Amino acid sequence: MRQAKVPSSSLPPPAASASRAGEQAGALHIQGVSKSYDLGGRVLPVLESIDLFIPAGQFISIVGQSGCGKSTLLRLLEGLDTGYVGRITLDGAPIVAPGLDRGIVFQDHRLLPWMTLEKNVELALRMRPLPAARKADLVEEYLALVGLQGFEHAYPHQLSGGMAQRAAIARALVNEPKVLLLDEPFGALDALTRIRLQQELQRIWMRSRSTMIMVTHDVAEAVFLSDLVVVMDGKPGRIGRQVRVPYPHSRERGSALLQEIEREILGLLLDQPATPDPSMPSLGAPSVTGGGRLAAVKA
Ligand SMILES: Nc1ncnc2c1ncn2[C@@H]1O[C@H](COP(=O)(O)OP(=O)(O)O)[C@@H](O)[C@H]1O
Ligand SMILES: [Mg+2]
Repeated sequence: MRQAKVPSSSLPPPAASASRAGEQAGALHIQGVSKSYDLGGRVLPVLESIDLFIPAGQFISIVGQSGCGKSTLLRLLEGLDTGYVGRITLDGAPIVAPGLDRGIVFQDHRLLPWMTLEKNVELALRMRPLPAARKADLVEEYLALVGLQGFEHAYPHQLSGGMAQRAAIARALVNEPKVLLLDEPFGALDALTRIRLQQELQRIWMRSRSTMIMVTHDVAEAVFLSDLVVVMDGKPGRIGRQVRVPYPHSRERGSALLQEIEREILGLLLDQPATPDPSMPSLGAPSVTGGGRLAAVKA
């Protein structure tokens, strides 16, 4: 399954499927988005004036301290929550509900334990009016894409954490979405598995060219994979800085050029004061000492 490293300029045409060939699909436009939660009469502002344009086919990471609204922003992009101010469009059309043009992967795999991998992935196709044989082909294709050929009949409990996350990625991609949203997808994996899956995700992205938006706490992961790293400030969550990673894929992990960008982003995160979660009961004044600042990055 692995592809040899090639300069991005010599890659085959980006679309994963013939239906998407030549289509400029997957551009997200977030305009003036603010979002608050109502905590029993108390208003908690979570996102403030978010403006972001994500061109089709880009890989974007979002980093920022815990509680700054990263998952909330992904929920809005998924269409799970429409109670906000502002406008979000996908290829010009407002996002009003979840749809097959967007897939999402969470930190936990969320596979149904009583179904085989094949059935779990096939379930994602239930809204597609396709013949059964075509669905079977798609399931096989996407399980193979994530390196799970031979495990079609395995149950989730028979898999390692990394394999289960691969299956979750296959389930999210089987509808060939324009946009894949990833909320700390490798956060629960051991370090080696995480590195392997980062490489796999890069390969998958280069093949599918879906727009990918990943929330992560791992700055090296963000820089390795992304065209652009969005640093969010909190709280409420705002776009702090957008740091471009101007190197072609696939990249050499740990190269000096990538490390320089990692240092820049870490510097931005360390400069943010560690703020308490405003939705939690007050525990006294926030610490902005060295320890508190480090906590902001580790959180
Ligand atoms: N459904 C909800 N109701 C009320 N508050 C929420 C809800 N979801 C998240 N929050 C609050 O919104 C803030 C941002 O949460 P979240 O988007 O999960 O942050 P992050 O993903 O950056 O850690 C936090 O203060 C959290 O407690
Ligand atoms: Mg989150």
